Amino acid sequence: MVRVYPLSKKLRLVVFASGNGSNFEAIQEAIIQEELNAEILALVSNKKDAYAHTRAEKHGIPSYAFFNKEKDLYESEILGLLETLEFDYIVCAGYMKIIGPILLNAYRGKIINIHPSNLPLYKGLNALEQALDAGDLEIGVSVHYVDETLDGGAIIKQVLFPIEESYSKDKIETILHQHEHKLYVEVLKELGENRR
Ligand code: GRF
Repeated sequence: MVRVYPLSKKLRLVVFASGNGSNFEAIQEAIIQEELNAEILALVSNKKDAYAHTRAEKHGIPSYAFFNKEKDLYESEILGLLETLEFDYIVCAGYMKIIGPILLNAYRGKIINIHPSNLPLYKGLNALEQALDAGDLEIGVSVHYVDETLDGGAIIKQVLFPIEESYSKDKIETILHQHEHKLYVEVLKELGENRR
């Protein structure tokens, strides 16, 4: 008997980012290396000068910046774009805006975020500083679903890594980003595999 395995479907992603976009690019690199069976359909940002746009352009990924002081209108405009895309997940990667009811109601369970702490510890801004101020010698990174709470949705996967007191903050940030890039790709792989 010959078994035919169906080709697995690509995970279709939209990435939301406000700044540097290193997580965004790490995901795209994993796709290029065929480590991750996925496609990034678009980059969405609230900042037109985010470096993430430059990374998107380099990879030929359409990128969009949205502005509207009125939060509902801002999200409605993004929704207008998202409704034209058939995607599986919104991947927040350094997206510095709280996702509001318009996007949450439309895509609950399909929005994930990466946060630089061992959630539920150190929610919100400056999570690494909070951990360092607490004297932690283990730093966490978490990927979680987005809900109405600040960094409080169900945790998908976390990693903890040790640091030493002698490490500079720059060194810790570099190590943290390496862990983030690896963790986000692992999570997306697992989400893609569990979908089949
Ligand atoms: C990451 O540390 C992420 O955990 C946090 O914002 C940072 C974004 O980094 N939410 P980058 O823009 O992906 O380089």
